[in-house]
Order: sequence, then C-alpha cells, then structure tokens
Amino acid sequence: MTDPAHDAETLRERAVTTLTTARARTTLLTSCVEDPDLTAQHSPLMSPLVWDLAHIGNQEEQWLLRTVAGRDAMRPEIDGIYDAFEHPRAERPSLPLLPPAEARHYASEVRGRVLDLLESTAFHGTRLTEAGFAFGMIAQHEQQHDETMLITHQLRKGPQALHAPAPEPAPLVTGPSEVLVPGGPFTMGTSTEPWALDNERPAHQREVPAFHIDTAPVTNAAYQAFIDDSGYDDDRWWTPEGWAHIRQHSIHAPLYWRRDGRQWLRRRFGVTEVVPPDEPVLHVCWYEADAYARWAGRRLPTEAEWEKAARHDPAADRSMRYPWGDADPAPEHANLGQRHLRPAPAGSYPQGESPLGVRQLIGDVWEWTASDFLPYPGFQAFPYKEYSEVFFGPEHKVLRGGSFAVDAVACRGTFRNWDYPIRRQIFSGFRTARSAGDA
Ligand code: AVJ
Ligand code: FE
Repeated sequence: MTDPAHDAETLRERAVTTLTTARARTTLLTSCVEDPDLTAQHSPLMSPLVWDLAHIGNQEEQWLLRTVAGRDAMRPEIDGIYDAFEHPRAERPSLPLLPPAEARHYASEVRGRVLDLLESTAFHGTRLTEAGFAFGMIAQHEQQHDETMLITHQLRKGPQALHAPAPEPAPLVTGPSEVLVPGGPFTMGTSTEPWALDNERPAHQREVPAFHIDTAPVTNAAYQAFIDDSGYDDDRWWTPEGWAHIRQHSIHAPLYWRRDGRQWLRRRFGVTEVVPPDEPVLHVCWYEADAYARWAGRRLPTEAEWEKAARHDPAADRSMRYPWGDADPAPEHANLGQRHLRPAPAGSYPQGESPLGVRQLIGDVWEWTASDFLPYPGFQAFPYKEYSEVFFGPEHKVLRGGSFAVDAVACRGTFRNWDYPIRRQIFSGFRTARSAGDA
C-alpha cells in the first residue's frame, strides 16, 4: 500500500510550495528597505540582511544542487564568506559580501535550478532525499533565516518598513490559569515525522511526574507585577549568573521597554506603543524568565514537561504531532508565519488547545524551558554536525513552540530551538510550571 502523503507528486508539490512560500517572505524582508539598510549591520548580534540572503542561496546550492544533484559549485569562491562557522556575525559586515543585486541574482539562479531538479528527483533511495527531506530541510533553513531577519528588522532603528494586521482580540478566558498534567511515561521526539531535524530524533519514552503548567504564556501585565515588586532589585529571585548579568548590563525590564511616567512603552518595528497588558511578554532572556518564575513561587517547565503538555493525549495514551492533533497548522490553530507581527493576547486560539486545555503552545512566543540543549538517547547527527551537535551542552537553553515569526514548516510539537541564557533579541517568552504536590 502506498501512503498518499508520501506519493511522489504530493511530495514534489509540498517541496515546491514550502520553498516558494519561504522565498516570498525572504523577498519581502529584503525589499522593504533600501540597499544601505541591507548592507548595514543593525546590531553586532546580527548579520547584515544581505548576508542572510546570500547564505540562504548558498546553503540551498550546497545541499540541493551539489550534494543531492552532484553539480559543481556555481561560485566556489563565496562558500567561505557564507559559512556561519568561519566568520562570527560581528565580522560579517567587513567581508566582501555580494552586493544586494548580486545576492538576489545568485539566490534566484540557485532556486531556478532547484525547481528544475525537483521535476526529476526521486523521493527515495537515499536518506537525504527520502520523503523530500533535503528540500524540507532547506525550506526550514530559509524560514529560520526569515525569522532571524525579522529579529534584525526589530533591532533596526528608523521608520516602519513592515506592516501586518493585528491578531484578533482573544476570546474571554474563563478557564483555570493552570492545568494538571498527570504523571507517567510519554513518547518524546519522533522517528516518523519525515522533515523533523536530527535533534528531534529518535522517539523515546520519558517518565514525567505529575505537574501543573500555565494554560497561557506569562503576560506583560503579570511580568509588570514582578517589575513593580522590585523583582529586578532582589537577588533572591535570580541565579548567581543571572544576577551578575543583569547588574553588569543594567537590565531592569524586557528588551525594547522604556518607562514613561507610570506606564511602559515599547518600540516595535519602528512604532512606539504602550505595552499591551494581555499580550505574552516578549524579549526576555532565560535569566529573566527563571527569576520571574521563582518570584511567582513556580519554575520553568523542563523540556520534557513542555513536550508532554503539548503532545500527550491522555485519552488515547499517545503523542500527537501538535497540541490540537495531527493536522498541519492552520490559521485557526496558531499565530505563525509572520501573518501578524506580534503575539496574540494570552488565551487566544481555543481551536489550537491541547486535550488538557493548554493554549498557545505553538506560535506566538518561543518558550524558554528549564533544560539544557542535549541529544536524545540514540541521537545521530544528520546531515551535518554543525546543525545541532556542536551546540549540545549546558551553555544553551532549549526554547519550544515557535513564535509568530516562524513558519509552520519550521515548527512542530517536537521542534527544538536553543540559545544562550542571556539572549533577548529573539522572540522569546515563557510560561511557568510547578510539580504536583507543591503548594
Ligand atoms: C536553530 C535557530 C538556533 O539560527 O542559529 C540557521 C538555525 N542553523 N542556519 C540558528 C540555523 C543554521 C539556528 N537555530
Ligand atoms: Fe543558516
């Protein structure tokens, strides 16, 4: 029997659609500002936008044209420039980068050849082409850089360049503020999701004791209560590293927040607004999330707790692909894909809730977890060590669930993101948890 989802024509269409969707976003993000804004470095934390653009094309050329199709390099001299490991972000503006017009031309040349290649590719035979994995990996890579570029747009000073409608106001939430996830084993990770990346594999059993988790991400209003209670001036709430970090850098509020008399303002994509109380808090680092949770008498969920809350269906005793079931994400489930340029109010997306009633696990804000980024038992680097393996270890914390800025192709119930605990330019928020039995 052939699985219709793995039928060659379906896979080809899916590859073309996801690659085309990614390119539309890349094009928008690199054409809504003038060339000087593409070549400038808006923050030492980020690459110039024109680097991301040619890097997207270069990765696509290396994996799809050279590795899958066995072609020769189109421009072998540029590989080093666009190798993220050869040059840290801060150095990239001083490299001989392709100017914007050339970068666009290169990326579109590569894409034209890839679309031709797709006409004749068999989606089986090698692990790289099985179920179109390499094409899915490259579509995800481009969408990950589209989120990176959106971060750069948020850091950029100057007038508004991007526009999007606001999310719908949240339906009134009358339910409980937390739910109990019963204890017991569940299946974490995946061995079957065809486009899952190496760090999501393999599926394995995890024992997770009973715990409570917030039904929605922590809001700006809740976070403001922490600030108002002098949370940033009380070392009881902070780890020693976190306390040293916020002292040294004079951090007193989330990134982009500014006090104006009695209210907080924040700059968002070139527009200043009053911080909306019912939106999930955004642009906090792991240390801030961890300190807030301790102040609230709670803690961050572990990565396994987060995934169990997001995927475990207690009735069927199995792990689903997403909180709402196995269907691919649709607009009624989650705020993904830069459709809106902000998270939706806490309590939104009732159709995306988990069987136990946890909302907004997917989309809106990346959620910091308590866990270090570590390999699952049986992990194998694929197809390259520099995607995940070189980042495993205690220096990176895991974030889960995706943000409004990431596309559905790069967001799953099993998807793992990671960053340093000091990072806050990313679209990061959090929710809290407590062990069952703790008051
Ligand atoms: C998974 C988001 C941490 O941006 O560093 C992009 C994704 N890897 N190009 C990153 C990635 C290679 C990665 N994160
Ligand atoms: Fe990359």
